Amino acid sequence: MTAAPSTWSPSSWRDRTASQQPDWPDEAALDAVLKQMGTMPPLVFAGEARALTTQLGAVANGEAFLLQAGDCAESFDAFGADAIRDKLKVILQMAVVLTYSSGVPTVKVGRIAGQFAKPRSSPTETIGDLVLPSFRGHLVNDITPTEAARIPDPNRLLQAYHQSSSTLNLLRAFTKGGYADLHQVHTWNQEFVASSNEGRRYERVADEIDRALRFMKACGIDTTTQPHLHEVDFFTSHEALVLGYEEALTRQDSITGEWYDCSAHMVWIGERTRELDGAHVEFFSGINNPIGVKLGPTATPEEALALCERLNPERIPGRLTFISRMGAAKIEAGLAPLLAAVRDAGHPVVWQCDPMHGNTFTAADGHKTRAFDDILAEIAGFFAAHASEGTWPGGVHVELTGDDVTECLGGAEEILDTDLGSRYETMCDPRLNGRQSIDLAFAVAELLRA
Ligand code: PEP
Ligand code: CO
Repeated sequence: MTAAPSTWSPSSWRDRTASQQPDWPDEAALDAVLKQMGTMPPLVFAGEARALTTQLGAVANGEAFLLQAGDCAESFDAFGADAIRDKLKVILQMAVVLTYSSGVPTVKVGRIAGQFAKPRSSPTETIGDLVLPSFRGHLVNDITPTEAARIPDPNRLLQAYHQSSSTLNLLRAFTKGGYADLHQVHTWNQEFVASSNEGRRYERVADEIDRALRFMKACGIDTTTQPHLHEVDFFTSHEALVLGYEEALTRQDSITGEWYDCSAHMVWIGERTRELDGAHVEFFSGINNPIGVKLGPTATPEEALALCERLNPERIPGRLTFISRMGAAKIEAGLAPLLAAVRDAGHPVVWQCDPMHGNTFTAADGHKTRAFDDILAEIAGFFAAHASEGTWPGGVHVELTGDDVTECLGGAEEILDTDLGSRYETMCDPRLNGRQSIDLAFAVAELLRA
């Protein structure tokens, strides 16, 4: 992208209404932290963000598929190498299933290394007899249900920056240092997955990949030195919600002079903050990263087109991803008019299905949950809408963990509402567990093949 509008600067969002921002109690303390962050090294490089735009351009052209996945909210408390590795493992497994079964390259983006801020439907929540300020993610406050823990603390911005930096460091080591090598395809299958039907189905794919690698070797190709087999491109993303944090990490690229939000390769605008004249759209209009916008069931074709014009006036393929999240019952009828309008306007957009956020409900025992069948049904409706409009179903966006949790209902292991309490560990929305994630990848691969 060339120059942003001449009125744009990393701080021009401050002249607009910014919804969902924390009520920081001490402006001076906040400013001191943001000033310090402005001098700290970027987490990602502009060139990496450009590489992701190029890969997403292939998705916009119908030549690749986008898998974006990770936590609803990352936690300062559950921070460790094993959790990062296990999340990466399940995403690599899903990507192998998708690529092998559909023959379409998979672009891999994590909701990781920065996914710390949460928009809330209400500024307060009631816990027992207490009415407390809502938990807004570890970037802002703590989940402990006390008045003190819920006070926004700007030092959390620094902690999030450092945790993102170590997470990225480990991800880079795993994906470029041999762990993501296709020769390792069997080792990504975790024990609790391997013993299940989905795990065995995955093992059969892994066996076939092994055979293909042996065949290439027998033909005289040294597969161990092929960078494409040895390394993986894995990108980071999060909802860029707290704009002060994002502004502080925005840098001008020394090569092109363009601005990039260097907190992640890709950032997105949530369903609650996508007003056209709001602060989030203003901030996103001037950064050159690949960006996403969530579109819920009330989104109109006019809004979608206006977002295209505002956020991708130069019509760069891969710059803009629309992430629909309408709910299984609404997706087919809700999405088709948006697809038609954007298609007819000739805007290159990546269409991605978030089958999670429109299908959340509260179970009888009080746990927030989602049914695996609703998740699959929304994805099927997404594919059906694209089939009827002649557009490309570009990807899926899911909340998952590598762990053996019981947060979403159903799936092959048939998690019941009475099971939810046994391993319910998420800090925010319910995530697919390792088995449900592999199952989902096979289902999506079948839809892609069809
Ligand atoms: C999310 O992705 O975690 C989220 C809050 O989504 P949405 O903005 O679509 O509700
Ligand atoms: Co969520």
